[in-house]
Amino acid sequence: MTPSSVAPAPMADPTAYLSDRVLHMQESATIAMAKKSRELAAKGVDVVNLSFGEPDFQTPQYIKDAAKQALDEGFTFYTPVPGYLDLRQAICDKFQRDNNLSYKPTEIVVSTGAKQSLTNAVLALVNPGDEVIIFSPYWVSYAAIVELADGVPVPIMGSLDNDYKVTAAEFAAAITPRTKLVMYSSPCNPTGAVFSRAELSAIADVLAQHPHIFALADEIYEYINFTGEHVSLAQFAAVKDQVITVNGFSKGYAMTGWRLGYMAARQDIAAACDKLQGQITSGTCSIAQRAGLAALKGGRASADEMVAAYHRRRDLVLELAKDIPGLKTPTPDGAFYIFPDVSAFFGRTAPDGSTINDSSDLALYLLNDAHVASVSGDSFGAPDCIRFSTAAADEKLRVAFERIKVSLAKLS
Ligand SMILES: Cc1ncc(COP(=O)(O)O)c(C=O)c1O
Repeated sequence: MTPSSVAPAPMADPTAYLSDRVLHMQESATIAMAKKSRELAAKGVDVVNLSFGEPDFQTPQYIKDAAKQALDEGFTFYTPVPGYLDLRQAICDKFQRDNNLSYKPTEIVVSTGAKQSLTNAVLALVNPGDEVIIFSPYWVSYAAIVELADGVPVPIMGSLDNDYKVTAAEFAAAITPRTKLVMYSSPCNPTGAVFSRAELSAIADVLAQHPHIFALADEIYEYINFTGEHVSLAQFAAVKDQVITVNGFSKGYAMTGWRLGYMAARQDIAAACDKLQGQITSGTCSIAQRAGLAALKGGRASADEMVAAYHRRRDLVLELAKDIPGLKTPTPDGAFYIFPDVSAFFGRTAPDGSTINDSSDLALYLLNDAHVASVSGDSFGAPDCIRFSTAAADEKLRVAFERIKVSLAKLS
């Protein structure tokens, strides 16, 4: 027998060679649902995909033009690990202009999306066993990122009556001697809730009493805010040094595919993230960075146009959802999602005789019956809810909610 014809010995567990780290990691629920929805669409089914966390707008033309120019000008080499200096300066200018926050370029690290900025910060701060308080419902990747750092996620749930916003008192009650970090997004994905100045001030007061605890403030939806005021936790002077602010270009400038995000933090934390990034991805894409520079220099006018559409669609979807018995939908003040409580449907029976036990079953039922893709709330730490994106054309939203209404009415 030649060696090549020897059959390999069967392994007891075919994935045993993969690390525990990856085996214990959950696939991103939003990516998994988008995959299922694409599979159905490939079979010719007319799926309305409301699972995406992505603007349906093109990147504004002036930003695309800057990218073309960058190519022509030869920006094709490795970039400085924390990003081009002029981009970091423009980010400092943006913090000053929009947030009244003063940072130096050495306190900024540009990364391959806000997702990497969050991961850098968690890896830079969290030791094995450290607890990370996560305001829930939370963005799907927070818990996975904390676990990647061998930290312990401690989700604390805001109440439906308070639009799912965690209060300062609830935050204070969750702190233990092992707490290292607290993370949240405002405007929030998935709920769309926006912390007011008073609410963040109270949270800052708690943080100020615990100078060894850091806060990761994810402000990626900053521009998509219908309240008229965005407040950064770092604006509270007593805690500025404890706060790492993460932001990026994906949502406000419709630049998801460019993979460009950034963080601002005191210099030692920024330097730690720079060191980490230098061993993993290095500086992010040169062309995306030149485009990002143009985006910031153009101000927020292009974002404001898109935000007007998101605002209109939010109102439209709330109106449509109001007409569907069983959905309890708080009014989102920002981002582009609605996050209704759907627990009224648990225990009901679908036409094929199966039982809807939880929000995953319901999301799957809506995909198969209504051909509408959503994401179940358990992946956001809120198993009673479902997330629908409102970043779709008005007509698509109308069709989707009409179909959802019909499918939900079939549950007995
Ligand atoms: C709350 C939140 N943070 C961070 C990100 C990641 O953004 P980026 O595309 O810049 O990695 C997302 C994307 O969906 C998000 O919703």
